[in-house]
Amino acid sequence: MTGGFASSGKPIHLGASIACANLARLEADLEQLCAGGIDSLHIDMMDGRFVSNFGLDFTLMETIGRIGPVGSMGEIPMDCHLMIEEPERYIDRAAAAGAEYITIHFEATRHAQKALRQIRDIGARAGIALNPATPIDCLDYIVDDIDFVTVMTVNPGAAGQRLIPAMLRKIGDVRRMLDASGHGEIDIQVDGNVSFTHIPAMVEAGASMLVGGTSSVFHKDYSIPDAIQTVRQLVTRIGQVS
Ligand code: DX5
Ligand code: ZN
Repeated sequence: MTGGFASSGKPIHLGASIACANLARLEADLEQLCAGGIDSLHIDMMDGRFVSNFGLDFTLMETIGRIGPVGSMGEIPMDCHLMIEEPERYIDRAAAAGAEYITIHFEATRHAQKALRQIRDIGARAGIALNPATPIDCLDYIVDDIDFVTVMTVNPGAAGQRLIPAMLRKIGDVRRMLDASGHGEIDIQVDGNVSFTHIPAMVEAGASMLVGGTSSVFHKDYSIPDAIQTVRQLVTRIGQVS
């Protein structure tokens, strides 16, 4: 963690959505992310069923482990976002490919509690992602099994989409619900159009894990280290005023 705290006092964790990197020069982008002090690499997996798109795969994760500074640095964790049906089928595979954070979608499995426990049993941090329309009370009986909640701030399935405004309210509702149930330790991750413009409102609402994609970490008008620094400055400023 290299800077900034959420309104909840939690340090801000900034991840990079590798689906938004220039895959033609992935090694260079990984070096830039490492130089910029990124906290994790967000790997979007899609199956063409849960979402109508195909994403990155386990071979790419293994390649990142081999080519990137990740392998040598060894401290930049990979965060595997499984946008696939019955994700429990691939949890072990994600861990074997190097994932230290694994996120499943509540809507994609009939056995969310069992799948979350499976993630923890293999030593990874367990995340549950909620599609924009999914009510937050689905968390009521699984809060003991999660390390973070991913509030999808766009409909999953593609980069470059626009924030769904109601999701800012949803972040706050999740934060209040977790705090009220004595689970202040659980982080809220936001994923989708996490832009320089939206980050202040997202962090003030209670987000502490940011997935940076086309509108921040890989913003076309910034170098990667400058983009990361811009997020850090934004968050630090929020921490100072709140
Ligand atoms: C969307 C993915 C996101 C996406 C982020 O389904 O889960 O991680 O790649 O890209 P931006 O930041 O462009 O929305
Ligand atoms: Zn994602």
